[in-house]
Amino acid sequence: MSYPEQVKLADGEPVYIEGLESNDFKVTARQLEEAITEKTKAFILNSPSNPTGSMYSEEELRELGEVCIKHDVLIVSDEIYEKLVYGGASHTSIAQLSDALKEQTIVVNGVSKSHSMTGWRIGYAAGNAEIIKAMTNLASHSTSNPTTNAQYGTIAAYTEDDGSVETMRQAFEERLNGVYEKLISIPGVYCVKPKGAFYLFPNVSEAAKLNGFTHVDAWVEAILEEEKVALVPGSGFGTPQNVRLSYATSFDALEEALTRIERFVKKHSN
Ligand SMILES: Cc1ncc(COP(=O)(O)O)c(C=O)c1O
Repeated sequence: MSYPEQVKLADGEPVYIEGLESNDFKVTARQLEEAITEKTKAFILNSPSNPTGSMYSEEELRELGEVCIKHDVLIVSDEIYEKLVYGGASHTSIAQLSDALKEQTIVVNGVSKSHSMTGWRIGYAAGNAEIIKAMTNLASHSTSNPTTNAQYGTIAAYTEDDGSVETMRQAFEERLNGVYEKLISIPGVYCVKPKGAFYLFPNVSEAAKLNGFTHVDAWVEAILEEEKVALVPGSGFGTPQNVRLSYATSFDALEEALTRIERFVKKHSN
């Protein structure tokens, strides 16, 4: 949700490319090429993705990268969920695919998700030195100076692997598998199984319809009111048929939430 606002803050115009549900919400190289004009400065890529949990394959990244190089469009690759991938998949950075792509890409990442250190407020960008220098100059007048303890904590997180990242990843995967099965058993709920991050992004338009709602946003609000379960409406991500569910919480809480959603759907079905 922040990308368009960040683009606007930089006096740019955000242009959206819809990653179709039928393609796991991913953007194709052809769609990207069609969206590029002479005004295009950068392509923002997020894999694994918030809110859908989809992840691009190496081949898909290569195709997208080729388009960006052809049109000299910078790639901003948000890889914050790189450590949280499931089903034996591994994460590929578009920057690692060739020297040209490395030069074309600014990788953004941080410890918020990989090490569950959101509150430490440490992220980083890696890329072309000239661009990073310009970013540093800009940040030095606003949000620079992360605290010393947070910096040392981050160094420890990246250099002292005690296995906790993998333990956390496994816990997320177990939770995903448990929650996913329960979610797709709810009438009218369809969900692409995510490959990464910690979100589920089910299409709930049919469930909402069964309950007499034309708009998913109103259905979400009714569930909040009646069952006290908060879902993030997909409309905020440009996908009004879907809702986002985060499984970065205990399995018990998630089970209870899904039980309540199911109860709501069944109770209000015509
Ligand atoms: C796509 C994406 N990028 C980056 C971040 C990290 O944000 P921060 O470093 O501000 O915690 C998040 C966290 O929600 C995210 O979903």
